[in-house]
Amino acid sequence: MVDSGANVRTRLAAAVGAANVLTESPDVEPYVTDWRGRFHGRTLAVVRPANTAEVADVVRICNEARVPIVAQGGNTGMCGAATPDAMGYEVVLSLTRLDRIRAVDGDNATITVEAGVPLAQVQQAAADAGFHFPLSLASEGSCTIGGNLSTNAGGTAVLRFGNARDLALGLEVVLADGRVWNGLRGLRKDNTGYDLKQLFIGAEGTLGIITAAVLKLFPKPVASVTALAALADPAGAVALLRTLKRGLSDRLVGFELISAPALAICRKHHPDLPDPVPGHPWYALVQIDDSGSASALSEQVENAFADAVESATALDVAIAQSEEQAHALWALRENISESQRREGPNIKHDISLPVSAIPEFLETSHDALSAAFPGAQFVIFGHLGDGNLHYNLAAPTGADAHAFMEHAPRANRIVHDLVAARGGSISAEHGIGQLKREELARYKAPVELEMMRAIKAALDPAGLLNPGKVL
Ligand code: FAD
Ligand code: MLT
Ligand code: ZN
Repeated sequence: MVDSGANVRTRLAAAVGAANVLTESPDVEPYVTDWRGRFHGRTLAVVRPANTAEVADVVRICNEARVPIVAQGGNTGMCGAATPDAMGYEVVLSLTRLDRIRAVDGDNATITVEAGVPLAQVQQAAADAGFHFPLSLASEGSCTIGGNLSTNAGGTAVLRFGNARDLALGLEVVLADGRVWNGLRGLRKDNTGYDLKQLFIGAEGTLGIITAAVLKLFPKPVASVTALAALADPAGAVALLRTLKRGLSDRLVGFELISAPALAICRKHHPDLPDPVPGHPWYALVQIDDSGSASALSEQVENAFADAVESATALDVAIAQSEEQAHALWALRENISESQRREGPNIKHDISLPVSAIPEFLETSHDALSAAFPGAQFVIFGHLGDGNLHYNLAAPTGADAHAFMEHAPRANRIVHDLVAARGGSISAEHGIGQLKREELARYKAPVELEMMRAIKAALDPAGLLNPGKVL
């Protein structure tokens, strides 16, 4: 830092208003701890600009004063990427006041939103305009579109609509020196050199600050079916996925795997939720949407599941008979993460593999981890349709959960080595942040790291954007 902290704060207050520069501990506390309570930092100030021009001012002031910036949206990230370090010199730049829906273009099927808009509000604005914005995460009430793009979020509808990256057409970004790049184009075809927006998507705030985006909209589904299928094992899940894909093709929107222990934890903390097909080791939560008639879809889905049960691919199935029942089934899936948090710390893995490799991986990793950590509890769930598992390890019953976390590096080694050996990824959707920075250096090819460092040096030569994250 080349300027005194007090002076920087004064300049920031002049740019965004004193009320939007938080320095007192009770005010900054929610911004300096991550959702899991795993990372905790300190900050020079939390700054809350109201618009793109103010974001540019803040970045320019910090750049001149050589003050690092940690961009933050809804602070729901899983890798400590939006948490400042413990030094107290970094500024947390909160985007939550950039909360306007700028435009909906029905003929172009696009929506232009500011980075701080919560995902649920983008979905609602699309629905109000008669469209569907498909990005869907259990955190959608709090996470922001800027955070979704910066983490290239996945969620429960990737099977049909892709990740956040696939839903973005244009971005507005404040660069490390404070200049504004307006790339807010709603074009589905634009071959004019490098697709620059792709650099900022998934960059976790290390290359620029996203201030707005143009997003794709889709026709609203007319008919939807939600079902929970009971399964003997993950191989059954893979077989069911294949059967449903063949029969329903792109109407298959979501295919979530849930292990019995994961379901039990969720129901422990949410006893009001149903248990429609009890007593099975594995489950698949399936979502099918269609623009055709509801009755035709229900009949087709019922036939597909009847065949699956007859062929013993599925052991039993519960099909929601109302929107309320569908919501309750989804709540069983979407509350697992938060329920696990209530249980205490756990060793999380967010991995992806070719779908075909998942049954064998689960067997092999289970044996390796059980041998290394006798009695450890496996909490496994995830977006199986996309090859993405949340493969979490918790302390044996009765053991100290905090002490068990000391095993994280060894558990990571076992899981990530097995994943890498099968051509998988150590981060499917949550990103790298500070949690997996060393793991990234270990599993990414040297030439890939070199290219990433070259891009970082080109766009952020002073290294002020979210230092210590990703690289
Ligand atoms: P933050 O946590 O605030 O920030 C995340 C990263 O983005 C940080 O590196 C930050 O610096 C950067 N950033 C934020 N805003 C900007 C911006 N405007 N410009 C530049 N950089 C920025 N994730 C999934 O992918 N799929 C899921 O299914 C899913 N489910 C979840 C369920 C729960 C219960 C929770 C708590 C989290 C879940 N997540 C999931 C993780 C998380 O919600 C996503 O990563 C989300 O995209 C983060 O958005 P955010 O606004 O909270 O970002
Ligand atoms: C989920 O799919 O629920 C999330 O990605 C969160 C998690 O892994 O805990
Ligand atoms: Zn997930």
